[in-house]
Amino acid sequence: MPCQSAAAMVRAAFAGGYAVPALDIETCDMAEAVLAAAERARTPLIVQITPRTLDRLGWRWLSRHLRDLCDAAPLPVALHLDHATSVEAALRGLDHGFTSVMYDGSHLPPDENARNTAAVAEAARRAGASVEGEIGHVGRDGEPPGLDHLTTADEARAFAAATGVDFLAVAVGTRHGHSPGPGGIDLRRLEEIRDVASVPLVLHGGSGVPDAQLRAAIARGIAKVNVGTALNRAYMGAVDAAAPAPRDVVERAMAAVGAEAERVFALTGSAGAA
Ligand code: 13P
Repeated sequence: MPCQSAAAMVRAAFAGGYAVPALDIETCDMAEAVLAAAERARTPLIVQITPRTLDRLGWRWLSRHLRDLCDAAPLPVALHLDHATSVEAALRGLDHGFTSVMYDGSHLPPDENARNTAAVAEAARRAGASVEGEIGHVGRDGEPPGLDHLTTADEARAFAAATGVDFLAVAVGTRHGHSPGPGGIDLRRLEEIRDVASVPLVLHGGSGVPDAQLRAAIARGIAKVNVGTALNRAYMGAVDAAAPAPRDVVERAMAAVGAEAERVFALTGSAGAA
């Protein structure tokens, strides 16, 4: 089934009360593992990768290979560029066959973020791709202090209306990395945002969020859940220095990534939806 825009699958999840798993991969074997797990669980899937990883490993061959893998899956699959922090990187993703892109201007003043996001959304529409933006800022360790900023309902409403994004990442208490923010997810804030934003919402920092909180967030408008660190940990936990050959290491790592992906599919409620 050819790889598709993520817009329809995220809208269907929003309407159906589940979330599409959006899994960050860093290598081709991770992509193969999550696609195979998705096939077993019959879930729609967003396979995503960051410009940083593509810069390191090579945009041309890696995008092409990922696109081939996603095109071959017998499921609704989108290939999504996660966290393009410049307009150029987002447009590069569209040129390289990504069917969905996130422009992340959450480090910029809101007006500039909205202008850039609207420009990427326009280009994505022309390419038949979906687009995600972020208002507020979901932080990560190592960033300059003071960037974290929880999204307000007013900001989300205005940003969604001004940009034309298909789905919107909001900061409601999670952080990137394995640990949720100190207070967990602010469910009241999420409800307020859902009530005024006209688009499905995205949760970043899905690793390490307690199961009950994740389910509660999905019940309040989260329709795309990003998970990265938990898959990396599963992969690295399976790497055995005493293994006889690299292919044995990769096999074990893929099995561990597949098992973690299936755990996420069960939690997001997406299993069986494809
Ligand atoms: P985690 O690494 O915390 O799962 O976050 C992933 C993410 O939000 C990628 O955009």
